Amino acid sequence: MSVSHALESDVADGVDMLRRQDPELAEVLLGEAQRQATTLQLIAAENFTSPAVLAALGSPLANKYAEGYPGARYHGGCEIVDVAERLAVERARALFGAEHANVQSHSGSSAVLAAYAALLRPGDTVLALGLAHGGHLTHGSSANFSGRWFEFVPYGVDAESGLIDYEQVRALARTHRPKAIVCGSIAYPRHIDYALFREIADETGAYLIADAAHPIGLVAGGAAPSPVPYADVVCATTHKVLRGPRGGMLLCGAELAERVDRAVFPFTQGGAQMHTIAAKAVAFGEAATPAFTAYAHQVVANARVLAAGLAAEGFAVTTGGTDTHLITADPAPLGVDGRTARGLFSAAGVVLDCCPLPHGEARGLRLGTAAPTTQGMGEPEMARIAVLLAGVLRGAVGSAGAREEVRELAGRFPPYPGR
Ligand SMILES: Cc1ncc(COP(=O)(O)O)c(C=O)c1O
Repeated sequence: MSVSHALESDVADGVDMLRRQDPELAEVLLGEAQRQATTLQLIAAENFTSPAVLAALGSPLANKYAEGYPGARYHGGCEIVDVAERLAVERARALFGAEHANVQSHSGSSAVLAAYAALLRPGDTVLALGLAHGGHLTHGSSANFSGRWFEFVPYGVDAESGLIDYEQVRALARTHRPKAIVCGSIAYPRHIDYALFREIADETGAYLIADAAHPIGLVAGGAAPSPVPYADVVCATTHKVLRGPRGGMLLCGAELAERVDRAVFPFTQGGAQMHTIAAKAVAFGEAATPAFTAYAHQVVANARVLAAGLAAEGFAVTTGGTDTHLITADPAPLGVDGRTARGLFSAAGVVLDCCPLPHGEARGLRLGTAAPTTQGMGEPEMARIAVLLAGVLRGAVGSAGAREEVRELAGRFPPYPGR
């Protein structure tokens, strides 16, 4: 089954109009569209949104100022955009089985900021996965508001298994009595045991914040466990596996609804971006379909095959595999570090990220299957990609040969067929 999108004419019309009015910028748009269509997108945080999501993003809703919430805005003329936000909220609540949803956060980081603002005060102690072990900047980086305004205590992953060390989490929580425990990561390939985090939070009197930016799309498609029944607040992005516009969202129980809403607006944001909210509504609608459930499961099946293929080729795959869309691996057994490997892959047209390796000096690689699965690629293509990546690092395939292979593969699975 192909899960590729069909290109709708209004998207093409928009580009044509731009080409006439602003050819310089049109070149940028077309160049980026071409780059995306002719290279392999293995960045775990990226995906191809549908033409319907793009249409909402490029709609006149972008013109509307709408501070506040539906029915209680600071600006006039919001009655129509209110419908879009109510739809987004209702669809998010239904999709994730949450009592309350806030769909206004401009990004994943804004959603985390709002979660902290709802539950914490500056100076509070927070337990989160250390940055070197896969925590996000908002989980205590000194370069980020989180590290400057809160006392973060990092927990880690086990040196042998690469799995979250839940006993360390429990011990640190008992010692430090944090106000909140954050579970969530930019690079953890396994399911998170939300029930166990809840147990530790309850035992030590902490709030539980799930930063489900990465797995939330899998949760929507029934391919990963949901944090919603366990966390006090769930924050997430809408643009990864979930395949919506770039943005954030928050889910919580009814008792925290008002605190969360006020933490988003007016505490951390001004006017809501109604075009993005409409696009989120579109994405939530798409994510509620059987086709999306099939997609989410295919994303995981693809990641498993890619991880197994990489392991068979000699990469040291963290935790030995994956439960999700995401794989982290050390290419050192093939003679290069992650940074060098990323450069070699880039020359071959394969786009992916470096990531820290929890207990090593050099950097590793992070790969994801959300985007190629949207293109319609399946297990055979993942197996082929693993062999290709190893061939590039071993020098068995020159970068020109690899680039040609990537071009051929990408050409068979256009992200927007018909363009
Ligand atoms: C776990 C986690 N939290 C927060 C974010 C921040 O999202 P954004 O880049 O939209 O601010 C990310 C982004 O990748 C993430 O993976």
